[in-house]
Amino acid sequence: MRRKRVLLTTVTLAVTGALTAGVLVTMAPAASAGTTLRAAAAEKGRYFGAAVATGKLSNSTYTTILNREFNSVVAENEMKWDATEPQQGVFNYSGGDRLVSHARANGMSVRGHALLWHQQEPGWAQNMSGSALRSAMINHVTQVATHFKGQIYAWDVVNEAFADGGSGGRRDSNLQRTGNDWIEAAFRAARAADPGAKLCYNDYNTDGVNAKSTGIYNMVRDFKSRGVPIDCVGFQSHLGTTLASDYQANLQRFADLGVDVQITELDVMTGGNQANIFGAVTRACMNVSRCTGITVWGVRDCDSWRGSDNALLFDCNGNKKPAYDSVLNALNAGTGIPNPTTTPPNPTTTPPNPTTPPPGGAGCSATVSANSWTGGFVATVKVTAGSGGTRGWSVSVTLPGGTSVTGTWSATASGSSGTVRFANVDYNGQLAAGQVTEFGFQGNGTAPTQTPTCTAS
Ligand code: G3I
Repeated sequence: MRRKRVLLTTVTLAVTGALTAGVLVTMAPAASAGTTLRAAAAEKGRYFGAAVATGKLSNSTYTTILNREFNSVVAENEMKWDATEPQQGVFNYSGGDRLVSHARANGMSVRGHALLWHQQEPGWAQNMSGSALRSAMINHVTQVATHFKGQIYAWDVVNEAFADGGSGGRRDSNLQRTGNDWIEAAFRAARAADPGAKLCYNDYNTDGVNAKSTGIYNMVRDFKSRGVPIDCVGFQSHLGTTLASDYQANLQRFADLGVDVQITELDVMTGGNQANIFGAVTRACMNVSRCTGITVWGVRDCDSWRGSDNALLFDCNGNKKPAYDSVLNALNAGTGIPNPTTTPPNPTTTPPNPTTPPPGGAGCSATVSANSWTGGFVATVKVTAGSGGTRGWSVSVTLPGGTSVTGTWSATASGSSGTVRFANVDYNGQLAAGQVTEFGFQGNGTAPTQTPTCTAS
């Protein structure tokens, strides 16, 4: 992202919105007030995080603030493609591992940033295209997500893939030129590699309802309808001197699609309105029950990529700024998340009424489709319940010789080559008559083409 982007937010913070938020602040019962950002956020079932440059972890002013105030971290650069795979097939996890280890020692969760981004591609990938790049990028996703498996709360699987301006379409890049399905292929590979991580799409200039955010909204809606494994959307929120009046409404419309939302790279231009904007963004998150946390993009003003904008919550000496108090007050006044940890990966496949399972035994059918590249593929299997519905199902897929399954999502696999049997997981076995669910797998070799057999129970 270029520096000038932060000036692009033009809609003035609506006075009515600010007043409404102010009323909420006054009326909200303050059960107990957290005295740090991390404590105040945790009381509401959320995290409050910071982007970290691991080279600064040896600076005691920096780490004192980091450990006291934040319960989530994200690597500012160390988990990006150029850092983690500087040569093709040669991986370097030293910076990322250092951050994960710091987080574990200090009770912090970790956001992963970012598996695929058109910027900070290593030189070797910048020079690739077509199926060779598709293969390399899916391998990158698989390797990195596998390395950090179990350590990451949420991955930015794809970062900044939509164009600025009024088109609402994709940004041109060598990644995009491998085919429009590159984003879903990346999400499927990430799910296969680390089924426990929430998988996010992350972007900027999405701070209200606009052409870009609507393009992303339409993609997320499409992914949810087709069972592409997406769990969250990140709103970077690199902000200028105003905030869109529909900032919260925009978060809410994404949440209403059945994904979590997170503020992922918050920083705000210095000036008279800075504290107000930090507070308004925090209130917006607190007012959206699926907004699970906020990350600021750095600790002190001098740590920020925005240089003289003084865009963060602490000054260069480590003192709290008025923006800090504004955020802390908004966290303490906010509403807690009703059920922070129970979201299944794909809630859309939950049957309409789980307490009354339909009668089993009347069969099901399955079809398979695949995105392939040289040496590998990601397959999606669509399961359709017969007239009697299902209590559970299993699907047998016959693989071509020399092909093996390397990862599965939304099903459990028995075997990895020849005929592989996939069975439902707990949240997608019960299907009403005619209801459809999807699962998927990734493999080495050649994608299957035979129609699978489906057995209902
Ligand atoms: O580490 C090298 C150093 O060895 C070298 O001497 C120096 C010379 O330029 O460069 C250093 O690397 C820089 C790196 O930051 C670490 O400081 C890169 O040049 C510089 O491009 C890189 O900038 C990062 C930028 O992403 C890259 O586009 C910023 O730190 C980082 O804050 C910024 O973060 C992005 C998010 O990932 C995505 N959203 C936007 C956000 C802000 O641009």
